[in-house]
Amino acid sequence: MADKNNSNQVLDTGHEWDGIKEFDNPCPRWWLNALYLSGLFTIVYYILFPSLPLVNGSTEGLRGWTQITKYKEELAKVELKRAPFEDKLMVMSAEEILADQDMLNYVTGSSKVLFGDNCAACHGTGGNPTAGSGYPILADDDWLYGGAINEIMMSIANGRMGMMPAHAAMLNDEEVDQLVQFVIDTSNGVSNESGMNLYNTKGCVACHGSDATGIKLVGSANLADRVWRFAGSEDEIRYTILHGVNSTNDSQTRVAVMPQWSEKLAVMMEAKAYAIEEGEDPNDIDWSDELEGDEAERLTETEIKKLAVYVHQFGGGQ
Ligand code: HEC
Ligand code: HEC
Repeated sequence: MADKNNSNQVLDTGHEWDGIKEFDNPCPRWWLNALYLSGLFTIVYYILFPSLPLVNGSTEGLRGWTQITKYKEELAKVELKRAPFEDKLMVMSAEEILADQDMLNYVTGSSKVLFGDNCAACHGTGGNPTAGSGYPILADDDWLYGGAINEIMMSIANGRMGMMPAHAAMLNDEEVDQLVQFVIDTSNGVSNESGMNLYNTKGCVACHGSDATGIKLVGSANLADRVWRFAGSEDEIRYTILHGVNSTNDSQTRVAVMPQWSEKLAVMMEAKAYAIEEGEDPNDIDWSDELEGDEAERLTETEIKKLAVYVHQFGGGQ
């Protein structure tokens, strides 16, 4: 039923459905204004900013704005803040960084991504690899090659690859059993004299040391603690003794390879250490003699310094 009042005052369009008529009212002013404004905004936006797609690329807009330039501007701001720190890092030694709280904060804060990109795949976030992965924990104070800052730096620069020969062909079953028991006893602080004799006569002592605590120079694991490089079960210990680690003549050997990140830095660190040992001034080293110039560098010296400090700060640094 039509509304008498309205149908008298307002024109209708003549459309009617089931008694409902469509009136011909104008749109509200505010609504129309908003529509015109948004149209205007679109045109202005199209002129100022990149918008219309073309065959190659798009219209560029008068302001020259792009997401890339925006990103580069923001990045430049970050780099400006970092620059003074990065400049200092280049000339500071890792020991000096450790002694400077401001630099230490900067390095630990800014190395997370570096570690995540290059190291965490093997060593896990924060230096805690997933159990059973076969990679060493970096966040404890049990070190194969040493936890002093320069030892850590050398591990990263030069890479590491501990070597223990497979002993399957050198020992009979009974000797293997005895040595497994010796390792278990030693880790528990229990003395085992016959095992110790075997340990000495079979040459284990040459690499693991007279007290079985390991030798940093060869990266042999400490057998006298309960921190396991691989695993501490009887079977795992037996496996290591039979097949060794990175052993060249056993296809079942355990594999443990830490990649090299800067051959150049490793050569330089060795030359410096040698000079100091000889009582010479490392600043006098003639690098054109030492370096061939084609030493591989996957990370820069500064990056390795940062990572060494970062790893040192996991808690196990010495
Ligand atoms: C492909 C896997 C892998 C990657 C990537 C890797 N590591 Fe290692 N890392 C190892 C293995 C395996 C060892 C142990 C080597 C051995 O047993 O002889 C090791 C040993 C080390 C050690 C010596 C630990 C000790 O107890 O003395 C340090 C320090 C270290 N890695 C730091 C790093 C840092 C920092 C990075 C990133 C730049 C990195 N690693 C990347 C596999 C890796
Ligand atoms: C040539 C040196 C060498 C000799 C000889 C040697 N080892 Fe090892 N051993 C190593 C090194 C290096 C490692 C650690 C490898 C790594 O992590 O890269 C190791 C690791 C081990 C481990 C693993 C420890 C853990 O924490 O998981 C055991 C167990 C072990 N050795 C026992 C022995 C016994 C027993 C003998 C004597 C039969 C022996 N080793 C002889 C170098 C040697």
